[in-house]
Amino acid sequence: MKALFFKTFGDANVLQYGTLPDPQIGPEDLLVQTHYIGLNFADIYRRRGTYHLEPHTPFIDGYEGLGQIVAIGSDVTTFTLGERVLFVDVPFANASLVRVPRDHAIRVPSAIDDKTAASIGLQGLTADFLAHDLARNHVGDRVLIHGISGGVGQLLAQMLIADGVQVAGVTSTLAKREIALKLGTSRVFLRHSDWAEHERGHFDTVFDGVGVTLPLSFDLVGHRGSVVFYGMAGGLPPKIDAVNLLNQSKSLLTGDLWDYLTSFEARQTRSTRLFRYVLNGAIKVQPPTILPLADGRKAHELLESGKSTGKILLESGSFS
Ligand SMILES: NC(=O)c1ccc[n+]([C@@H]2O[C@H](COP(=O)([O-])OP(=O)(O)OC[C@H]3O[C@@H](n4cnc5c(N)ncnc54)[C@H](OP(=O)(O)O)[C@@H]3O)[C@@H](O)[C@H]2O)c1
Repeated sequence: MKALFFKTFGDANVLQYGTLPDPQIGPEDLLVQTHYIGLNFADIYRRRGTYHLEPHTPFIDGYEGLGQIVAIGSDVTTFTLGERVLFVDVPFANASLVRVPRDHAIRVPSAIDDKTAASIGLQGLTADFLAHDLARNHVGDRVLIHGISGGVGQLLAQMLIADGVQVAGVTSTLAKREIALKLGTSRVFLRHSDWAEHERGHFDTVFDGVGVTLPLSFDLVGHRGSVVFYGMAGGLPPKIDAVNLLNQSKSLLTGDLWDYLTSFEARQTRSTRLFRYVLNGAIKVQPPTILPLADGRKAHELLESGKSTGKILLESGSFS
């Protein structure tokens, strides 16, 4: 198979593209020929050596992709050869062939095309668990999303708006601000302006996937408000004083999607809920940026630069 791999941790230059042995499947596995592979911020953390990475020689990054089943384990009766499946929590995805345990395979409704499905898998299920498992906002709540024009940010904003929540956001450039406003967001602040002073205590919930912004996020929520901390795209957050939170009745909610995708049913129920937003037009997916898997380095650099908006997909080139 063809794969994007690395032997040491470091910047995007450690990435190499070449031929590696095909994965072997067990009785409960599917072999999936990937079409599109999703790039995520966690792939950057893994390449840098700062995040959990499945042992493999050489290392292969990536956990989500969409493709076609080309081989089926002897105990699998629920999938057929040629079926299209999505997966979001399967290691070694930066390759033309991926071993997908059957419980991790997600069926996609035929009305959703490949690019759209591949663009919303992991980020969409993340938005879903942040909104529906962690924050659990009510109609009319006021929320703010840092990095609202990013992949998770855009999907989360549209999901919450469809749920009747008032969504504001923060972003870095005027162009990204335009994108966020088109989603139906009420107000979008520019990160480098002095917007925050007027907004302290204003929100019921702040969604923070940026990390360094965590103290600001706690200032922005009112008493009894909560901050949903889910990532560090901007760097590690400083330590938070729990006694301070207690004194103001503010809560820190946090979690990893993988602790919510624990069975075939959990993946199916959550993806069905996510796909419904797409099928009924509540979530509109911005066209992804697509680069060949062979150009993985460029794709990592683009994501790290902060200049991309929406999803970056790697095309494995194994499809004719
Ligand atoms: N907990 C989980 O299970 C889980 C699952 C998936 C993803 N995540 C996390 O979710 C976050 C967003 O992921 P994504 O895939 O949506 O990435 P993304 O598309 O690259 O979006 C990240 C956003 O963060 C903002 N940002 C980057 N550097 C920043 C900085 N220094 N200061 C402030 N903002 C900065 C950028 O927005 P602006 O340029 O507009 O400010 C960017 O749009 C990441 O932290 C990721 O690790 C968590």
